[in-house]
Amino acid sequence: MLQIKNLTVKVLDKIILEDFNLEIKDGEIHALMGQNGAGKSTIAKVILRDKNYEVVSGSILLNGQDLLSMTTTEVARCGVFLVGQNPIEIAGVSNAEMLRTTLTDQGENNLNILEFNKKLTSLCEKLEIPTSFIHRDINYNMSGGEKKKNELLHMWMLTPSFLILDEIDSGLDVDALKLVGNSIQEYIETYHPIVLLITHQKALLDRIKPDHVHILNHKKIIQSGDASLAEKVFKEGFSGASIIDRVSLDA
Ligand SMILES: Nc1ncnc2c1ncn2[C@@H]1O[C@H](COP(=O)(O)OP(=O)(O)OP(=O)(O)O)[C@@H](O)[C@H]1O
Ligand SMILES: [Mg+2]
Repeated sequence: MLQIKNLTVKVLDKIILEDFNLEIKDGEIHALMGQNGAGKSTIAKVILRDKNYEVVSGSILLNGQDLLSMTTTEVARCGVFLVGQNPIEIAGVSNAEMLRTTLTDQGENNLNILEFNKKLTSLCEKLEIPTSFIHRDINYNMSGGEKKKNELLHMWMLTPSFLILDEIDSGLDVDALKLVGNSIQEYIETYHPIVLLITHQKALLDRIKPDHVHILNHKKIIQSGDASLAEKVFKEGFSGASIIDRVSLDA
């Protein structure tokens, strides 16, 4: 279970989140929506302990463990996995090298290389990416859509228990969006992770059905509901649905 309590976050002396609260129970899917610049990616980055984001006050607990006292690597060891809006390129480290090292770090002491390669090959086929990606540097010189699929390759190999998907749909063509959405849905049905899904797209929420939807505005969650809240936003827009008062946003 994830518990974020009274979180206030600052970037370069500007408060981005203030008194932000969110609780996600095991196996639940929560969608976070909000206008551009509302602070959605900020929450993802704070959970992953990005040093650019200063936590002024509050707490983030995952299964009772204090994530704010951890480094990014330690948070990842707790099973947290972020597919970011712009996945970073890591030149000089291949997918296979990173995955082998991380799996060993996760306690897979007797990693069978044949099995490892077989699994990666079949995942590449499933995700419709060339098997040559196995030995390519992480996300390096990959197209936007390829990067997202490459991140899913990591997800399936590392089997995280807490997935943060930040606009995984952005930059995907129609077929890729279907494939990626279905792959994530299959992962959720197989491993039942906690999911924090940040999206602006109806197409993704049609595939990955959230248990709860939250609207972020003015530094905190201003409204929560079930999937029908997302439907309302898609139909009427944030301001049309009177969820966000533009005047207060601009104030
Ligand atoms: N590292 C940073 N340095 C300076 N400002 C930042 C940084 N990260 C975020 N911000 C600012 O914080 C605010 C929230 O940004 P964030 O990326 O969280 O928005 P978002 O809700 O994810 O928007 P979008 O829907 O466009 O992705 C923005 O005004 C942004 O400019
Ligand atoms: Mg963002």
